[in-house]
Amino acid sequence: MSKILVGIVCTLLAAIAAAGVAVYTGAFDVAADTPHAAVTYRLIAFARERSIARRIQDIAPPGDLGDVARVRRGAGNYAAMCSGCHLEPGVETSELRAGLYPQPPNLAKPETGSSNGAGGAARRFWIVKHGIKASGMPAWSKGGMEDAAIWDLVAFVQRLPKMPASEYRELVESSDGHSHAGRQNATDHSAAPKGVPDRHESGHGDGNHNHAR
Ligand code: HEC
Repeated sequence: MSKILVGIVCTLLAAIAAAGVAVYTGAFDVAADTPHAAVTYRLIAFARERSIARRIQDIAPPGDLGDVARVRRGAGNYAAMCSGCHLEPGVETSELRAGLYPQPPNLAKPETGSSNGAGGAARRFWIVKHGIKASGMPAWSKGGMEDAAIWDLVAFVQRLPKMPASEYRELVESSDGHSHAGRQNATDHSAAPKGVPDRHESGHGDGNHNHAR
């Protein structure tokens, strides 16, 4: 019995030592264009979902997530702050999304993944509010977004996969643009996070942002 125990402890120590050597010598590749081993990816995904499931237990979504006013308010913020990474109807990719690892899910596509069904709204709310470490998904509450504005985004994201491009554009145009509680100047577009293409400021097409593709 004690031999088995010694065997297990030695194996564990050897694994820790091997991981330490891989980290210290720089063998572990942090490049975003080198994917994780499949098992590492699955382990991270498992840890993420267990962590989120534990933290959303007490979140009760408001009953009016289908409300068109909520969806409309969410539209302007989504276009300004999210679409660069999560895309929009009729848009297949973006430079920002193409280079991110993990790749942000295309929220305009029919729903897949863990936000389906019961608990999905609470899960989305939590992710938008707190972000996800080392993934590129920001904690929007740190930028000053209040819960009410986050629920508006959840309402919008819930509708998005069923939205034709024409309806998307109409909602964005008729919304208040980038505006949410918690900022002194809610329509100040310079408040958008650096590097995220703000549809009102992006240099696309005006000669500023120009490189071969
Ligand atoms: C800089 C890129 C980036 C921006 C900007 C961004 N996200 Fe994300 N988002 C991500 C990444 C990457 C993930 C996946 C994280 C992971 O799998 O660990 C993600 C995940 C999510 C998810 C979970 C999707 C699912 O079903 O699993 C939601 C919901 C979400 N983001 C909403 C938003 C909203 C709303 C905004 C705008 C307020 C936003 N994101 C802005 C990168 C971004």
